[in-house]
Amino acid sequence: MGRVAGKVALVTGAASGIGRACAEVLAREGASVVLTDVQGSGEDVAAGIVKAGGKARFVGHDVTSESEWKSIVAGIEKAEGRLDVLVNNAGIAVAGLIHELSLDEWRRQMAVNVDGVFLGVKSSLPLMRQTSKAEVGKAGSIVNISSIAGLRGAANLSAYCTSKGAVRLFTKSVAIECAAMQDGIRCNSVHPGLIETPIWGQVVPGSNEPMDLDAAAAMRVPVRRKGWPEDIAKVVLFLASDDSGYMTGEEVVVDGGMTVGSV
Ligand SMILES: NC(=O)c1ccc[n+]([C@@H]2O[C@H](COP(=O)([O-])OP(=O)(O)OC[C@H]3O[C@@H](n4cnc5c(N)ncnc54)[C@H](O)[C@@H]3O)[C@@H](O)[C@H]2O)c1
Repeated sequence: MGRVAGKVALVTGAASGIGRACAEVLAREGASVVLTDVQGSGEDVAAGIVKAGGKARFVGHDVTSESEWKSIVAGIEKAEGRLDVLVNNAGIAVAGLIHELSLDEWRRQMAVNVDGVFLGVKSSLPLMRQTSKAEVGKAGSIVNISSIAGLRGAANLSAYCTSKGAVRLFTKSVAIECAAMQDGIRCNSVHPGLIETPIWGQVVPGSNEPMDLDAAAAMRVPVRRKGWPEDIAKVVLFLASDDSGYMTGEEVVVDGGMTVGSV
């Protein structure tokens, strides 16, 4: 039996990077996974999971659209009949100096990283509550992907840091509200450090050079390596599973020690 066998999981931003790894790991551990993304290549990721013997399907989805969220959750209710796990992973990184950032860029950052997470939780909770038996440690689990940028500031990344800080505190509010309602649903945030994914193509302001993650990791990560999407997906699996049944509102940092200290 897999660690999330019998559960239905929805993973946003699952066409690439961390979301893709989350979908693959959850499916490998027995979940039936609904992958969503603005990129149609999520279809190939779902097909790969099915080919490997897992259960998965892909739906095109812009997380900033409330009507799309509604139709995806309605589709899950119809097709899978339940929703146990929501991984709010889709995200973008808008880089730029504060005095050069346009209000449109700022709003785009908040729309995807903050509104997208709010809409995900808002749209999914009714079906998750229906699914939940309010059995401590066995009910639904929401995992929001924040960042170490949600724990501290960074030059050139003010909008991104602000958005990820919002995800961190929204997570705690969801956790407390669900606890207050005694619905058994837990909500935790994950804070990755330097993880090798295409997002780094977006976050090198004022430069055409791609970010050299190996060089950055050698300098800034105590364990002296960059992370891989699976490093995050394994932690998401734990938070999605009943093994973390007594954890809620927690912020789990997965960064090779980067925010702990320097060596
Ligand atoms: N890679 C890192 O080092 C790192 C570190 C900390 C946090 N994160 C966070 O991890 C999450 C995943 O990022 P990643 O590194 O895998 O990057 P990625 O670019 O590989 O994946 C992000 C995915 O989100 C999708 N997406 C973007 N806008 C969307 C929208 N409006 N609706 C639906 N899908 C959308 C993209 O198409 C893409 O598939 C993000 O929230 C990111 O902020 C990444």
